[in-house]
Amino acid sequence: MERTKWIIEKRKKAEERYDTIFSSDYDDKWGYIEEEHEKLVKEFIEMLPDNGHVLDAACGTGKYWNILRSYNLRVKGIDQSYQMLSKAGSKCKEYEIEKMGLQDIKEVNKYNGIMCVDALENIFPEDWVKVIRNFYNALKNEGILYFTVETISKQEKDEAFAIGKELGLPIAYGEVAHEGGYHYYPEIKYVKNTLENEHFTIVKESVSEGYHHFLVNKR
Ligand SMILES: C[S@@+](CC[C@H](N)C(=O)[O-])C[C@H]1O[C@@H](n2cnc3c(N)ncnc32)[C@H](O)[C@@H]1O
Repeated sequence: MERTKWIIEKRKKAEERYDTIFSSDYDDKWGYIEEEHEKLVKEFIEMLPDNGHVLDAACGTGKYWNILRSYNLRVKGIDQSYQMLSKAGSKCKEYEIEKMGLQDIKEVNKYNGIMCVDALENIFPEDWVKVIRNFYNALKNEGILYFTVETISKQEKDEAFAIGKELGLPIAYGEVAHEGGYHYYPEIKYVKNTLENEHFTIVKESVSEGYHHFLVNKR
């Protein structure tokens, strides 16, 4: 299959999977907040001004909203899955929600901070720069971005690539796409180059089990 068509189908499928499979019991299965994630979310919040405006990009069910709630912040959550988003909406009625893909953010100069947690692995290599650029544009000057990059070993990448090729999938190295779902695990060096090219300065990085965390600000 041609790659462009495959990507469109994969994205549609991801939305369907979150709507129909994951949203109903997401909080029960995945609601636990890992220590490093919590630490970084709090560090991110503490860098924001009082009454700052935050975009939770791919907010899912609003897993971090109980933390955000204990600060004086205005929050908007976006997600491409309507069912995930509506769970978030019912959790915290004072927060704005809108169904929107990370690739489709058009807002400009609006937020003091953007957080994007456990979601960028859904972004295709072709869309990575666009998404980082969308975050940049949506942030106010010197705005803060916190995001995670999920990581797997080189051996896992090699195996997934070999299986994908064997199945005749039009996959790129770093993608895992043979089991119905889709994840892309970019090289951390690529992430850092993209941040540099897109005018972000790294404020803090940390590593936890399966994740690389980035706190960056808009230059
Ligand atoms: C693993 S969940 C994480 C949700 C939340 N940030 C958290 O930490 O619990 C991934 C979320 O990303 C959303 N998502 C995946 N691809 C997306 C895209 N291209 N644009 C917007 N949301 C997307 C999914 O619908 C899902 O809600």
